[in-house]
Amino acid sequence: MLRLGTVAGVVTVGAGISGYDIAKAADASQIPWAYKKFNIKKTMKRAYENYAVLGKGCSYAVFEALAGTAAEKNGTYDSFPWTVATVGSGGVAHWGAICGTLNGAAWGLSLLLAEPYRSQVIQELFVYYESEKLPNYKPKKPLKSDKNVKRTKANAIQCHVSIEAWVDASGAKKGSAEQKERCACLCASIAGKAARMLNDVLKEKYVAGDSMGKVAAGCMECHDGSATHSAVLSHADCTTCHDDAHNQ
Ligand code: HEC
Ligand code: HEC
Repeated sequence: MLRLGTVAGVVTVGAGISGYDIAKAADASQIPWAYKKFNIKKTMKRAYENYAVLGKGCSYAVFEALAGTAAEKNGTYDSFPWTVATVGSGGVAHWGAICGTLNGAAWGLSLLLAEPYRSQVIQELFVYYESEKLPNYKPKKPLKSDKNVKRTKANAIQCHVSIEAWVDASGAKKGSAEQKERCACLCASIAGKAARMLNDVLKEKYVAGDSMGKVAAGCMECHDGSATHSAVLSHADCTTCHDDAHNQ
């Protein structure tokens, strides 16, 4: 992997560029970091290999594929401790909480985007994770298992919930080579979706997607705090946990 040294100096951009401000110093302590257009295929492959070859877990895999690519181009790669993101593996220290692909992506996006894009892109990514049949990436040469990887819908953002849904549908064992292949491909799917949105922001073509799924949006018509009903601080699919709310 290319590792450039720190380049002193400031990247200046002409006043003609409006919208997303990419006039940032090549200094890793200033965020958001500047980034250049992502090559989607390369970003997906990088995330896949970060997991399947380097074995640094899903959170690092996506985080480094996004922010690391930007840092390489900015010449600041060596000034950042990338392995900090390995803590997100297995839903943070194996608690099965937020899926590491999303956790890594959120931190990567947080380094690269300012508001309102940061929250919009993260929310769209989380809805994508909940509602798409994933993984939708197929490497040229699978590194963990040659078996066809079943695609499943998680209906949740949690590692535990997502893996159980996949295990139920695929019949594969947890911790198996097949599951590792699935998680490696999932890293690629999430990095790819995030990179596409980053490119849209850069081109000033980003149109914010849904900030939550349809189920949550229906519940939040009453539970968003604007009415007298209990305010809920979540955009997650409510019925994954409240399957009998209001006896639905
Ligand atoms: C038409 C308005 C409305 C919608 C839509 C709605 N709720 Fe409620 N919900 C209420 C009201 C009113 C209460 C009772 C007062 C309170 O707790 O705020 C309530 C209470 C609750 C409670 C606590 C009480 C209980 O039943 O255990 C939960 C949990 C809940 N809602 C979940 C949901 C979920 C999940 C959805 C979407 C599937 C949803 N609600 C959609 C109005 C709504
Ligand atoms: C990860 C599981 C999970 C998800 C997802 C979730 N909830 Fe909850 N929710 C809980 C738990 C646990 C409680 C506390 C126990 C209870 O009241 O059921 C709770 C409590 C509530 C309450 C009662 C709060 C009160 O003041 O009494 C409401 C209303 C509610 N949730 C609505 C929602 C809505 C709407 C969504 C979707 C935007 C949602 N929840 C998503 C687990 C979840």
